[in-house]
Amino acid sequence: MNKLLLLFISIGFLCSFQSESNSQIVNPQAHIIPKPDSIALLEGSFTWDTSETLYADSIGLLAQEFLIPYLAKANMEIEVSEKQNATIQILYKEQIPSEGYVLEINQELILIQASDAAGAFYGVQSLRQLLPVTAERISSLTLTPFTIPSLRITDAPKFEYRGMHLDVARHFFDVAAVKSYIDILAMLKMNRFHWHLTEDQGWRIEIKKYPKLQTHAAYRDQTLVGHYSDTPQIFDGKKYGGYYTQEEIKEVVAYAASLNITVVPEIEMPGHAQAAISAYPNLGCTGQPIKVAQKWGVFEDIYCPKPETFQFLKDVLDEVIPLFPGEYIHIGGDEAPKTRWNSCDHCQKLIAQENLEDAHGLQSYFISQIEEYLNSKGKQIIGWDEILEGGLAPNATVMSWRGTAGAVQAAKEGHNVILTPTSHAYFDYYQDTSPDEPLAIGGFLPLKKVYSFSPFPPEMDDESKKYVLGAQGNIWTEYIPTQEKLQYMAYPRTMAMSEVVWSGPTEDLDVDYSDFLTRLDLLLKRLDVMGVNYANHLNNLEGKVVKQNDSLFYSLRATLDSKKIGYRLNGGPQTNYSAPFYIDSPTTIAANVIQADSIIGPTFTSRIVPHKGTKAQITVDKTPHPSYSTGGINALNDGVNGSDNRYGDDQWLGFWGDDLEIILRFNKPTKVDSISMQFYHAPGQWIYSPQEVQIGGVSVDGYLSTAGFTSAKTKTLNTVTLIMNNKVYSELRIRVPNYGVIQEGAQGAGNKAWTFIDEIIID
Ligand code: ACM
Ligand code: ZN
Repeated sequence: MNKLLLLFISIGFLCSFQSESNSQIVNPQAHIIPKPDSIALLEGSFTWDTSETLYADSIGLLAQEFLIPYLAKANMEIEVSEKQNATIQILYKEQIPSEGYVLEINQELILIQASDAAGAFYGVQSLRQLLPVTAERISSLTLTPFTIPSLRITDAPKFEYRGMHLDVARHFFDVAAVKSYIDILAMLKMNRFHWHLTEDQGWRIEIKKYPKLQTHAAYRDQTLVGHYSDTPQIFDGKKYGGYYTQEEIKEVVAYAASLNITVVPEIEMPGHAQAAISAYPNLGCTGQPIKVAQKWGVFEDIYCPKPETFQFLKDVLDEVIPLFPGEYIHIGGDEAPKTRWNSCDHCQKLIAQENLEDAHGLQSYFISQIEEYLNSKGKQIIGWDEILEGGLAPNATVMSWRGTAGAVQAAKEGHNVILTPTSHAYFDYYQDTSPDEPLAIGGFLPLKKVYSFSPFPPEMDDESKKYVLGAQGNIWTEYIPTQEKLQYMAYPRTMAMSEVVWSGPTEDLDVDYSDFLTRLDLLLKRLDVMGVNYANHLNNLEGKVVKQNDSLFYSLRATLDSKKIGYRLNGGPQTNYSAPFYIDSPTTIAANVIQADSIIGPTFTSRIVPHKGTKAQITVDKTPHPSYSTGGINALNDGVNGSDNRYGDDQWLGFWGDDLEIILRFNKPTKVDSISMQFYHAPGQWIYSPQEVQIGGVSVDGYLSTAGFTSAKTKTLNTVTLIMNNKVYSELRIRVPNYGVIQEGAQGAGNKAWTFIDEIIID
């Protein structure tokens, strides 16, 4: 709005003018993701017409360089002007915290104030979400005039490291796809892009001194088709690969910087190095030729810590460092089996010569050598939490992915940490239970679970919390060959993570998540205009068993609270859902969101089979791990069986390393024929079914113990059945010893195994 013009028009005129442009008012409630610290909606609105002009202080130049072309693309050119004439002003204000901003909109002016360029940029990103979603389109159509509500937003991030990762090695994404990924991060006020550039399956960054990294290591001869666990494994027979030239890397880094995003490159060592070793076999322990990997996994051929390897890595880093002006280089460090090192003369001599304890000590030595080199060049290292094994390099930042224990330990030792646990941050996992979901690596990480994440692990003490830099979502691309699928896996889970790291972890999940979904509904319309794909589970619903005394009820809830629900029981007629309903016999529930009397969205199904145990009170002497306890203890005897592919859902309870005693108390003496328990079994995820289960019972006659069980194993489930011979019990005690420490050679070797249980069925 031109300020002079405003003096001459009446408020009444303004109001009728607004309603005319109603179709453009898309965000009257100022829905923004991530949610700002505070929004005060005020009386009136700003009318954006063709006469807007912009003034920015020097801290506003980054924001200005974004805003002018962004608007011009949507046919909304604005001119830069003197401050006194400008209707959009971006001004320096000392008191505002780093990366924070204040956005004030009134009838005359849009004012963004910040104390740094990042804050000003984020003020503009909030303004962007207040513009019509159609402003995202390249258009020659006139959007103006439209109105924006008068408001005052005060905002600043809770965490300084707000990241997303992308693996471009399992599948390669070109510069345009990477830029598009970065675009969304900027809109969400994220500030780190972790670019996973080297892997067993391909080396993706041009290193001029080592041309075979381009001609050889960047390509694999063929790729696994379907899932790793399929038998037999089938390959496509097609050469696959690609890499970024250094010019392209510079282009991406500069593009990211223009959006206030720092790129963190990852050059993996000592493991996940098979592509490089394939190009230069002398980098490995055996010197034998190997292929660039054609399937996924953890491979034994890792860099051998000999002088020529360190020379190679230093040469590589010498070319990497000038391309990435940020503080950090990620050096990987995860999943490096010590098999080769344990049988390599050079490695064994080095262990002795350096007085190291074992191969873990050698890994620590390896990382410390590299850290020293990078520190000498003014860079800091980040490594996955395996770099804790054998001792942390002195200045390393730890990225905790195998749960949060690595973060807790590293922070205790005074190291900075970034949280990316598989439980809440692996966006390559399934996000929905529908059988129509596209193929994923496994796991289960629905949007709400991402939203529930706290970068402060519950077991972390207050002193350690100051070392938590932030968190990041990771996208590994074994099963993500296209940009469309990448977007499907990334969005909207990235939006949920952005809110965790910007707005801080929720303190009231149900209330905040519901509010988030309302805002997400609008943001997804913006993605529609941008042509960005995403997973839409907003027309889903969830269900759960609710126990009252010893009766079971079933409760349904639509993802968006405003939606109506219809359900059918055992294939019967459709009923409108209003309140939890009673279940007293085996029941299959099918439910849908209903809109205008029609079913929309996928069908939710659940099967509930009441048994004698569902009437019992249950206690467990240990608390399930907070990452795997959504359903609570009652999930163990709610009549619903845990699935064979989603240990992360609200049925399974996960316990890490604990021996358990579970007690079921009946409210009256009950004849028991058998007890069955299901255990999840996925050694790749460190989850092991226990080696034995013991049971005792308090019968009406006193205590007795029972032994003997049969066990039926499928790929991921181990069902244990104990025969109880129809004796009468008032109480049952079940002891479930943890499997123990994971053996050498397996994933997670040396760590305690997880126990996952659901359901305990009593007949
Ligand atoms: C990882 O997922 N291997 C860091
Ligand atoms: Zn060796």
